[in-house]
Order: sequence, then C-alpha cells, then structure tokens
Amino acid sequence: MKGVELFLVASAFLAFAWSLASASDPDPLQDFCVAINDTKDGVFVNGKFCQDPKLAKAEDFFYSGLNIPRNTSNPVGSTVTQVNVAQILGLNTLGISLARIDYAPYGGLNPPHTHPRASEILVVLEGTLYVGFVTSNPENRLITKVLYPGDVFVFPVGLIHFQLNIGKTNAVAFAGLSSQNPGVITIAKAVFGSNPPINPDVLTKAFQLDKNIVTSLQSRLQPINRHAFKRFTHPKQENLEDLNLVTCQATMKGVYFLASFLFLALASSFASASDPSPLQDFCVALNDTKNAVFVNGKFCKDPMLAKAEDFFFSGLNVPGNTSNQLGSKVTPVNVEQIPGLNTLGVSLARVDFAPYGGLNPPHTHPRATEILVVLEGTLYVGFVTSNPDNRLITKVLYPGDVFVFPVGLIHFQLNIGKTNAVAFAAFGSQNPGVITIAKAVFGSNPPINPDVLTKAFQLDKNVVKYLQSQFWWDNN
Ligand SMILES: *[C@@H]1O[C@H](CO)[C@@H](O)[C@H](O)[C@H]1NC(C)=O
Ligand SMILES: *[C@@H]1O[C@H](CO)[C@@H](O)[C@H](O)[C@H]1NC(C)=O
Ligand SMILES: *[C@@H]1O[C@H](CO)[C@@H](O)[C@H](O)[C@H]1NC(C)=O
Ligand SMILES: *[C@@H]1O[C@H](CO)[C@@H](O)[C@H](O)[C@H]1NC(C)=O
Repeated sequence: MKGVELFLVASAFLAFAWSLASASDPDPLQDFCVAINDTKDGVFVNGKFCQDPKLAKAEDFFYSGLNIPRNTSNPVGSTVTQVNVAQILGLNTLGISLARIDYAPYGGLNPPHTHPRASEILVVLEGTLYVGFVTSNPENRLITKVLYPGDVFVFPVGLIHFQLNIGKTNAVAFAGLSSQNPGVITIAKAVFGSNPPINPDVLTKAFQLDKNIVTSLQSRLQPINRHAFKRFTHPKQENLEDLNLVTCQATMKGVYFLASFLFLALASSFASASDPSPLQDFCVALNDTKNAVFVNGKFCKDPMLAKAEDFFFSGLNVPGNTSNQLGSKVTPVNVEQIPGLNTLGVSLARVDFAPYGGLNPPHTHPRATEILVVLEGTLYVGFVTSNPDNRLITKVLYPGDVFVFPVGLIHFQLNIGKTNAVAFAAFGSQNPGVITIAKAVFGSNPPINPDVLTKAFQLDKNVVKYLQSQFWWDNN
C-alpha cells in the first residue's frame, strides 16, 4: 500500500483515534464555534471568538494539500506541516488538530520537543522511524520503539519526545494532537535560542557545560529576524518557505524551521486544570503499590475511614538542604505526601535556594500551571514561550512577589542575592510531574541515541557523550 490508498486508510484511522482521545481543551458548549480570524481585534480569549453559526460554510472545516511531500532540505532534515485552528477555523473549541511530518533519508530528525497542551498519536505511512519519549523525574525513563509503515505510537501530553528516520528512504508520518492549538517547544531552541537569551550562568550550571560552549550555542541558536519566518498555510506557498530556508541557513544554521505554528497568545496558556474533576467530596488515595492495577490517579479509600491525617502534612517550615551542585532543593507536597489530594487538582512545593546562584534549573510541569510566591531572598525567574517565538519572559522577584508559570512551558528560578532564598509554589494538579530538561535529555535511562542529540543541539558527538556520562543531580 502506498500513496493515496495508505493515506486514506491512515486518515480513517486517525479520525477513529481522535474520538478516543480525551481532549484537554475546553469542551464545546454548542455544535461548533468557527473562529473569527481577526488578529486586529485587541482582545485575547482562551481560544478564538465564534463566527455567527449561520455563516459557517464547508471551507471553515476544510484544508487541502496534506498529500504533498514537503521539502526536508534543512539542518534537521524534517518538516512539520501543522493543520490546527490557524489553518482550519472550524477547529475552534474542538480539542483536536493534525500534522504531517516529512523526514529526509539517513537521519532526518524531528528533534526533542514537547507539546504543552496535547497528547499525540502518530501513524507512520512510509519509512522507518526510531521514536521515543522520556518520562518525568525521577526516573526519566526513555521509552523507544522502531516504527514501520502502519505502526502507531502515542506521546503523552507534555513529555519530551523525538522521531529519527533510520531508513534509507524518505519517511512520512501523520499525527493527531488533542488540542486545537497544541503548541510546540523545541527543547534545544527554547533553552539556547530564546529571545532574549537566558542568562548563561543559568545554562552553565544546569547543563554542566563550559560557559564558552553555552555562549557559542546561544549565538548559534539565537532567533533570527522574526520576519524571515513564514507561517505556511498552504503547500502552494512552499517556495516561500524554501526561500526562508536559504536566507536563514546562510546566517544561522541552527534554527529549526518549525515555523508553521500559531502564535501563542499568553492568555491561552492559562488552561483550566487538566486533572479529572471530582465526582464526590473527596477520594482519599489508597497508597498501595502492591495493587497490580493502575488507574488515572489513585483508588479511593472508603470515605467513612477518612481521617484528618489524610489531608495533612507537616514540616514545610524546615529549610531543604541546598548543599548540592545546583544549590537548590524542592520539597514537594502532592498526592504522594497527602493522599487526600487525590482527584482535587492541586498541590504545593517549598523551594530553597543557596545564596549566590542557587538554581532551580530549566524544567517543565507536564500537567500543571504553577503560581509561586517568594518568602525570602531575590530570585531571577523566567519562562520561554512555545515555537516559533520562544520569547523569554523574566522578572526579578522580591519577598511577597508572586509569579505564574503557564502549564508545560520551560521555566527556571535563580537566586541572585547574597542570602538564602525561599519560595512556595502551588500547582494545578495533584501530581504535576517534573521534567528537568538537562537531566531528561542527557541523563535518560537508557540514553537517547547520541546521533539524535548531536543533531538537535549541534554539539560535537564527544561533547554529547561527555554530557551523557555526567551525573545529573535531581533537586526534587
Ligand atoms: C488566520 O490569520 C493568520 C494571521 O493573519 C493567517 O496566518 C492564517 O492563514 C489565517 N487563517 C485562515 C484559515 O485564514
Ligand atoms: C528544497 O529546499 C532546498 C533548500 O532550500 C532547495 O535548494 C531545493 O531546491 C528545494 N527542493 C525542492 C524540490 O523544492
Ligand atoms: C546536606 O547535604 C550534604 C550533602 O549530602 C551533607 O553533607 C550535609 O550533612 C547535609 N546537611 C544537613 C544539615 O543535613
Ligand atoms: C505512599 O507510598 C510511597 C511508595 O511506597 C511512599 O514513598 C509514600 O511516602 C507513601 N505515602 C504515604 C502518605 O504514606
């Protein structure tokens, strides 16, 4: 089976798969809400405004040309063609989108990235892909698989994943994503190529790299003039994209051209809690890992047996020990510590920072937005928005200051004061998860194939192997 036939089968399969995905986007409150594509409107909403339903037409639900192979002559050897609410206005509120991914032969790579708002289900149409994702801290287990045509693989929401073409021919895959606007965060680019750059001290410590390597990576991965990027919405405009590739390659080899993604309005990052809503007062978790059955969340204890201790934790007044290579310590208080948090969609952490550079290194929470309050000290904090902008938004915080880190985005905190710093953070999940970027990428178990990281980070293979041999401290 090839070409059109396989494409149709794949589409039918995806259509079926979509109905199984549980959407993290808001549920529709009506048949549809075709977006008004008016960016001149100065108001930002979570999603888009609806058009008058009477005006809806077939074209609002339609896109064509996803059968056409894309040009993969770029530094990573892959091209992602997104079909989300920016291309199909009728996807607004429906919690689903699609992408086509083309991979060049002999190593075309969709480099390590995350989707802050969507799980992904991918089907291979042509070629042979080595794919994988890394679980949250502390295990950072790398789960990989070699996929052949017809194979399907799932990448859970927020986790770092990649696909590498290990075959001698082109490879093609289609992916369904459980959001109208899944967002993409290409790890290497968001960390080393944010705009403006992250303070090199943060990255030197977080990645255990020489400062010269960090600044050289930063200069290579810095964003080029944003106007050189183009958001292609139709394959007929591909020549424009090629033109950009030429322009960019000349000046900036390292930028990844996943530039076809929707601009992310900051407002849309403030998603409602993605944990399941409670269906009863509470569901105190049974802390029984001997139980061979795993559920989304934990089993409930008989409500009659619930006691105050199920909702209680003490000791968060005690400073964490920051005598470690990062100079920070996170003390989490989630459903593992307080079983009564089960199904309630919230948790807490205390973060201690050593003076003069204690760092909570770049990390994400795949399942939670974070709201942090500083109690003592002075913190330089920041987060990086999704592709294509990867805008770094930073702030220096003093005691009493509060800052929000939207769900799934890479963020960090650095103590720039001469004293200890202390902060408390609340999360919109009973189990937000932590993915420490450096550790998940270079310290996964087993290691990610060095070819993937050499290409993604444009590092010498020896540097990658050196990094993979390092011990990565886990501060939480
Ligand atoms: C919506 O507007 C954006 C920005 O102007 C544009 O790139 C995109 O192609 C438009 N989408 C549709 C379906 O018209
Ligand atoms: C693909 O892109 C490369 C680099 O921009 C260009 O040289 C080449 O002609 C393009 N190929 C096709 C088939 O458009
Ligand atoms: C803090 O941790 C270090 C390194 O593990 C250890 O040597 C030290 O005794 C600890 N300090 C306290 C107060 O527990
Ligand atoms: C639940 O079990 C885990 C693993 O055995 C343990 O680390 C944790 O402390 C337990 N939590 C409670 C509240 O007993």
